[in-house]
Amino acid sequence: MKEKPFVFINVAASADGKISDESRKQVRISCKADMKRVDMLRATSDAVMVGIGTVLSDNPKLTVKAGDLIALRMKMGKSRQPLRVVVDSRCRIPLDAEVLSSEAETLIAVSQAADEEKVRLVAKKAEVVRLGKDKVDLLALMRHLRERGVEKLMVEGGATLNYAMLKEKLVDEVSIYYGSMIIGGNLSPTVVDGESFKIPLKLKLIEWKKLGEGLLARWKVIY
Ligand SMILES: NC(=O)c1ccc[n+]([C@@H]2O[C@H](COP(=O)([O-])OP(=O)(O)OC[C@H]3O[C@@H](n4cnc5c(N)ncnc54)[C@H](OP(=O)(O)O)[C@@H]3O)[C@@H](O)[C@H]2O)c1
Repeated sequence: MKEKPFVFINVAASADGKISDESRKQVRISCKADMKRVDMLRATSDAVMVGIGTVLSDNPKLTVKAGDLIALRMKMGKSRQPLRVVVDSRCRIPLDAEVLSSEAETLIAVSQAADEEKVRLVAKKAEVVRLGKDKVDLLALMRHLRERGVEKLMVEGGATLNYAMLKEKLVDEVSIYYGSMIIGGNLSPTVVDGESFKIPLKLKLIEWKKLGEGLLARWKVIY
């Protein structure tokens, strides 16, 4: 059995590579055609993962929206919705977060740093796994997901989780939808934040096309 799922990052960025502005609140970058594509990507994935920063900023539901795509999943013998995964070392997730809704299963990955009592409360709404001492051990999480039957994992940000996943060499592909806009701001999160890579990561362009009013590009990551 493989050690980890096939992992791809999917984000929407402005032409200048920002995924939000300095308020870190959600900025509408995608167009209708891109949102349809994202729904399809979720529908064909076994799990969809975000960092706690994204949950706190955007409060996403992370579910497949289109009824025909849900039907397609079920025809393929999959669950109605992909598993939702949140990387949240200290278990900061609000108990009323949309990602804890009953529409889909959710797994919260925490570390030893998480408060026992908060974990107990969250565990009433989601599966909680403790992996790692301070931060969540991402390689251990990938192994856990693979053992749980996740073969294809979609990572939907944000900037910090994207960086950590790439740094740990856990990402196979990166897809970026560039909306036709400039956000600017040196404090605005970008596709990949964290520290710069001493040697830039190499990518191989697999696909690029006009989509709606923007541009979609997909790369394979070469480690
Ligand atoms: N345009 C798009 O497609 C898109 C998509 C998603 C998000 N966004 C934007 O991105 C921003 C949020 O990004 P963000 O960077 O603040 O947050 P993030 O990447 O969603 O979450 C980062 C957090 O994950 C936790 N974490 C746990 N273990 C980790 C590990 N091993 N490595 C790295 N992080 C780990 C850390 O918090 P703890 O230490 O507390 O666990 C860390 O601060 C928002 O502005 C949102 O709107 C945009």
